[in-house]
Amino acid sequence: MTHTLVYPITARNNAAGHLEIGGCDVVELAERFGTPLLIYDEATIRDQCQRYKAAFSAHSDNFEIIYASKAFSCLAINQLMLEEGLSIDVSSGGEYHVAKLAGFPSEKIFFHGNNKTRDELEYALDGGVGYVVVDSFQELDLLEQLLAKRGAKQRILLRITPGVEAHTHSYIETGQVDSKFGFGLGDGLALEAIRRAMNSPLLELMGLHAHIGSQIFQLEAYRRAIEILVQLVAQARASFSFECRYLNVGGGLGIRYTQEDSPSSIADYARVKVEGVREEVRAAGLPMPRVLIEPGRSLVGKAGVTAYRVGTIKEIPGVRTYVSVDGGMSDNIRPMLYGARYEGMLANKANLPADTTVTVAGKHCESGDILIKDAQIARPEPGDILVTPGTGAYCFAMASNYNGNLRPAVVLVREGEARVIIERETYADLVAKHRPLRH
Ligand code: LLP
Repeated sequence: MTHTLVYPITARNNAAGHLEIGGCDVVELAERFGTPLLIYDEATIRDQCQRYKAAFSAHSDNFEIIYASKAFSCLAINQLMLEEGLSIDVSSGGEYHVAKLAGFPSEKIFFHGNNKTRDELEYALDGGVGYVVVDSFQELDLLEQLLAKRGAKQRILLRITPGVEAHTHSYIETGQVDSKFGFGLGDGLALEAIRRAMNSPLLELMGLHAHIGSQIFQLEAYRRAIEILVQLVAQARASFSFECRYLNVGGGLGIRYTQEDSPSSIADYARVKVEGVREEVRAAGLPMPRVLIEPGRSLVGKAGVTAYRVGTIKEIPGVRTYVSVDGGMSDNIRPMLYGARYEGMLANKANLPADTTVTVAGKHCESGDILIKDAQIARPEPGDILVTPGTGAYCFAMASNYNGNLRPAVVLVREGEARVIIERETYADLVAKHRPLRH
């Protein structure tokens, strides 16, 4: 087995020589539910949740793990996170809606966003939202205005941009000075935001938040961000007796997409985050706050694999062989957007040697619609089931209907059973909101 590190923890080759996940034969799943099919392994998600809980418990009894639902906002997965005792981060009215439907109580919902609209904020305030993570002075004003109308108080955190570079793809780096997110430290803006929030009778400032980026392998950037945040807390305490009860140090732990990737462990991540905060507050003579973290990718990324059916195979002698599958950029935009690299295998030829180098292409009308360049797979034939692992985060979440392609079905597998958690779209869905030119 060469696929253990990148694949869900239940992945194995079965007696038929097929890839099996969660006790289900992937080739049978593809037959039964059609392709492209996104398969989530329940055991892997629960295992990741439990690893997070164990790792943080080893350092503290005052922490909170918040699922960043932007990685995959889905009713059933949210419910699974709730069962595991997690809180939830929502970044829009839509994600808030899904979290509420899943049954999250208000006090477990954190609402993020650099441009929450008035409608979104009103929707969340009306439905009950535990914490609004405020991103700008404009939002502070808007929130106060909406709260005044309701005569209600709201718990908030302030999003701080610590000015730290996270060494990841620039599109997913968020903590640097030049960022659309949060209150920067320059010109005392962050300090002013704290003062402003503390003075508001309608806002209860519980603490600060910073998220420096995603798919981060080097933990030093977190250490630096924590140092900067705690300096700010100390300053605000000295200036106007600010008490930071919650310190939300974001998400961002990277995962392994290919064998070459070497992400940090959850245990090391927890140590850096909790002990980092402890060391800094101790040095500054401050009380230890509750440590909040917001992982998305590392909770669901490895649990998901996508199964495609192989169609056209085009061999260009001496150049390359294109193996086209029945999905691509509309169900996984990450290779095109971030140059993300994936591995692949043929689920129906799991025991055969991966001795053929091919380029796995999508079916969309774009030359750049390439899922994997130079994949090593068994010798492909039309009809084979090609699987890409590591597609549990930010794939379905960023899926589109480009070229009129339908979003795939999603199934959750466990101990030999597969349940549809998102139905495949239909052609009727595609035009459900369209209206004809003339009635
Ligand atoms: N908290 C905040 C405020 C965030 O903005 C994010 C991710 C997270 C938590 C979760 O980060 P994670 O643990 O998943 O790294 N579409 C990109 C990733 C964008 C991440 C945006 N924010 C991708 O496919 O790589």
